[in-house]
Amino acid sequence: MSDSVKILAIESSCDETAASVVENGRKVLSNIIYSQIDLHTIYGGVVPEIASRAHIDKINPVIRAALNEAGVARDEIDAIAVTYGPGLVGSLLVGVSAAKAMAFALNKPLVGVNHIAGHISANYIEYEELEPPFGCLVVSGGHTHLVNVADYGRYEIIGRTRDDAAGEAFDKVARAIGLGYPGGPKIEKISHEGDASAISFPRGKIDEHPYDFSFSGLKSAVLNYLNGCRMKGEEIVEANVAASFQESVVDTLCTHARMAIREYGFKKFALAGGVSSNQTFRKAAEKMCEEEGVSFYCPSPIMCTDNAAMIGAAGYYEYMAGVRSGPDLNAVPNLQLG
Ligand code: KG4
Ligand code: ZN
Repeated sequence: MSDSVKILAIESSCDETAASVVENGRKVLSNIIYSQIDLHTIYGGVVPEIASRAHIDKINPVIRAALNEAGVARDEIDAIAVTYGPGLVGSLLVGVSAAKAMAFALNKPLVGVNHIAGHISANYIEYEELEPPFGCLVVSGGHTHLVNVADYGRYEIIGRTRDDAAGEAFDKVARAIGLGYPGGPKIEKISHEGDASAISFPRGKIDEHPYDFSFSGLKSAVLNYLNGCRMKGEEIVEANVAASFQESVVDTLCTHARMAIREYGFKKFALAGGVSSNQTFRKAAEKMCEEEGVSFYCPSPIMCTDNAAMIGAAGYYEYMAGVRSGPDLNAVPNLQLG
């Protein structure tokens, strides 16, 4: 084996069809993302059937584009990494089937990758010097996980959401205010014109599990507030609702992270997942890390949302550790981390 390991990575767990070639887990040679967002916007959320069909249409062109842009021939690839969970089963199956077919046809090793491990590994791409151990908050549309990244491929979940993911709460609240889908960026934008202390929304807590999250209570509080205003004929200032909601989410996430930093003694703390592209969240987390004397890491927005480069980074460390998947690799919609 030469000292350059090139991984072709494939990601199709939700509504992005993505492929990438990553060298030695850190260097992105190509990163192709076909976002289906326009197909789903009119429905106000991802429609699984439509997502699977669009993945089928796009998977081969996206893989071809990733190889072309990297200037890498198929037989120069050392291994194929693919997301096999968690995610939508019909979406995952498209990527897994494509990866299995290529691995078989080219006689290359296949490595199944956990999507959440991928989000965490986006940090390895952005920060060449970053090595475990570190703490990480993975905050996306499907997941809210507080993770102890003990080593490459070794994860301990410190806390997780008991109900809605943080991104899901952003999307649902945006819909209730009438901002449309996807809600996260829209809430963030309108919040700039709002007063985050205008309305006092609750901070979800699970008493016996202080590291776990709960966002459904906050979502209900926002809905109740909106209904109350409508019934009383009071004016709703959308920007204030959005800013106050965002403040509650950001505060909850940062409070949990601070607690974990203190208890686990992390020297480094990272963010990951789509919600981490939220500037208010990034700034609050950075400030909290500064106060705790901890180095702060956060991937650029394109590496926060779903992409295949992050799967290539996670896949590289699995590959180097000898992890191999067989032709029986299947989609696992509720795959757990660790
Ligand atoms: O990581 P991601 O692309 O996909 C999943 O694995 O879920 O995350 C998408 C989620 C959506 O819920 C979206 O509303 C949220 O991330 N999001 C944001 C922002 N940008 C995306 N939430 C808050 N602020 C943002 N700027
Ligand atoms: Zn994701």
